[in-house]
Amino acid sequence: MADSLTKLIAGNWKMNGLRASLFEVEKLASKLTAGAAPRCTVAICPPATLIAAMNQIAAPAGIVVGAQDCHPAASGAHTGDLSAPMLADAGAQLVIVGHSERRADHGETDELVRQKAVSVLAAGLTPIICVGETRAEREAGTADAVVAAQLAASVPDEAADDDVVVAYEPVWAIGTGLTPTSADIAQMHKSLRDQLVKRFGAKGAAIKLLYGGSLKPGNAREILAIEHVNGGLIGGASLLADDLFAIISAA
Ligand code: 13P
Repeated sequence: MADSLTKLIAGNWKMNGLRASLFEVEKLASKLTAGAAPRCTVAICPPATLIAAMNQIAAPAGIVVGAQDCHPAASGAHTGDLSAPMLADAGAQLVIVGHSERRADHGETDELVRQKAVSVLAAGLTPIICVGETRAEREAGTADAVVAAQLAASVPDEAADDDVVVAYEPVWAIGTGLTPTSADIAQMHKSLRDQLVKRFGAKGAAIKLLYGGSLKPGNAREILAIEHVNGGLIGGASLLADDLFAIISAA
């Protein structure tokens, strides 16, 4: 199947950005509204502190705003945490769950990631569920098995009826300037697609598969053209409007 799905280009600002950084979103908004409408969906996931303010600038330009994490519960005694309904209330439409930095920094398991994805769906939002192998796992030849296990346990059964997005982010490619070969990305995305179709049938063919890890203007065209790569999850290069716009143009 050719990639008939509308691509999603999503920026993940991680723990970067103050209100002054919204200038970059203003710049991106004016670039996007100046020319022909992009043929992809554009999203930015800023720190939660910026979701509401970013939405004011982003929404009129058709840019979707998302969040980077949530607690699996809707409310309760969890000091410092944010729930999916709160993020929805602030204006988020997407929530990244299971990013490798959260899996590493906070010991998040596939089971917790799955619960978070369920809570995101229950709030009427779309989860971007992240999977990806470490360098040691790739070198040991276990990347396929590791990622398959993460996918099986992190994607909830609710994906049969509700929209979810999956992001393949090899941990060793994040923030390093390294990327897998196009052949390796193609092979992993084909494998993810096959597993989703096996589990969810036609619905599995419609789940967007993003690639993430050192995606930048210089490699975006090649990576985004790979079959079953339905967009990108972009860290560093999403912080500057010029870079993100170049990637959107490549899509
Ligand atoms: P970089 O694009 O900075 O490698 O980060 C990728 C990422 O982790 C996006 O979630």
